[in-house]
Amino acid sequence: MSVTIIVGVQWGDEGKAKVLDALAAETDIVVRYQGGSNAGHTVVVGNERYAFHLVPSGILHDKKTCVIANGCVVEPAELMKEIDELSARGVRIDGTNLLLSDRAHLVMPYHRLVDQLSEKKKEASGAGKIGTTGRGIGPCYVDKVARSGLRVVDLMRPSYFVDRVRQRLAELNPVLTAVYGVEALDANKVADEVLAFAPRLKPFIADTATYINDSIAHGKRLLLEGAQGSLLDIDHGTYPFVTSSNATAGGASTGSGISPRKVTLALGVVKAYTTRVGSGPFPTELTDGIGEGLQTRGAEFGTTTGRKRRCGWFDAVGVRYAVEVSGIDALALTKLDVLTGEKEIKICTSYDVDGRKVERFPCDHHALVAAKPVYESMPGWTEVLDDVRSFDKLPRAAQNYVKRLEVLAGAKIRYVGVGRGRDAMIDRQ
Ligand code: GDP
Ligand code: IMO
Ligand code: MG
Repeated sequence: MSVTIIVGVQWGDEGKAKVLDALAAETDIVVRYQGGSNAGHTVVVGNERYAFHLVPSGILHDKKTCVIANGCVVEPAELMKEIDELSARGVRIDGTNLLLSDRAHLVMPYHRLVDQLSEKKKEASGAGKIGTTGRGIGPCYVDKVARSGLRVVDLMRPSYFVDRVRQRLAELNPVLTAVYGVEALDANKVADEVLAFAPRLKPFIADTATYINDSIAHGKRLLLEGAQGSLLDIDHGTYPFVTSSNATAGGASTGSGISPRKVTLALGVVKAYTTRVGSGPFPTELTDGIGEGLQTRGAEFGTTTGRKRRCGWFDAVGVRYAVEVSGIDALALTKLDVLTGEKEIKICTSYDVDGRKVERFPCDHHALVAAKPVYESMPGWTEVLDDVRSFDKLPRAAQNYVKRLEVLAGAKIRYVGVGRGRDAMIDRQ
């Protein structure tokens, strides 16, 4: 059995898609299990750059089946747009190599609207916005948990679909008008807009949990592609500045219908420094020239929103927590090349919170805001790393940095990323 979970252990954008792409040759099925089009997963092949939001990044590989599983939230218009754009670039996508779970929830037009209005309201009230991607992800998961959601399967029953939209809008419209001061929505119009995608989505719709479990029983190998990162997890992240799904390894099990006992490997993906998009505490954030340097050299712009990513030193406190919560067996370290040229590289090993030494990642938002990083320093290196393909060819200082990170993170670093391209990765096995 080979079921590998790929999970981000920071605040997202660790380079999960690039790592997945490198491993995809050795797999049969790639599964996205949570999140929606808030994710932006980049794969660079030669001069071509692909940015995936909902479609699993394994789709670039021939003879693989890609699955958007039940834990995902899917906006039909967004999914079709992504499929059309990829098809126009020559990527083959049809009902044989992409499956969409009948149990996945639909991101409705009003979810996107509420996401954006709620952010504006939070900002105006001074409460501080989350800095969401504005893709309706939070409101969709809210409806799922409140049992007011619509699922992919419902697209096949138009009259039921319209009834459910009507019921939902009967509750939501007074909020839209009274709280947000916008016009009420017409249930028929909203339902028709979404139902219009049903014929195009139909060939992709499947009972994906059954497909996945049958495939495992037949010896197929699986890669489970996580979205976001552990510190954005709804339970374990920096609440309330989180996303609305379980981005830790546990989410892969509920989000795809695979027993946790069938998972054979949890591979954590971690950047050689830290980035975060949107608001929320970030103890090692660098607002000086060093942070700007990481941002520029690392091309740290959000793949989905184009926002500049905040940058800072490696935070071993957060990573250690994420490694523990997801039971990470091994790590893939990305973007080591971006650190080239730094004279001194810092690693946060604990926090100082109001004079107290804190070694465990705090739950309390106020403690995280107050946390001052306690650093240890290591000498940097000047060599360009992009063409290095074996660990012992890395500069000694870079080797020492990697070895120190694995001790502090609590998991072996198996892969080391040294560039954007598909092959720019060292396998230490
Ligand atoms: P994901 O959301 O975790 O899949 O990551 P993103 O695609 O949002 O962001 C990671 C960015 O870093 C992308 O632009 C990748 O092409 C790039 N990247 C990944 N690994 C490396 C690496 O080892 N070195 C460099 N320089 N870039 C990398
Ligand atoms: P990938 O899969 C980085 C962040 C948003 C915001 C918070 C909540 O590419 O790593 P949401 O729209 O989910 O309600 O926003 O989560 N966020 C991400 N940050 N990478 C992502 O995905 C993210 N998806 C959401 O910026 O702070
Ligand atoms: Mg991303």
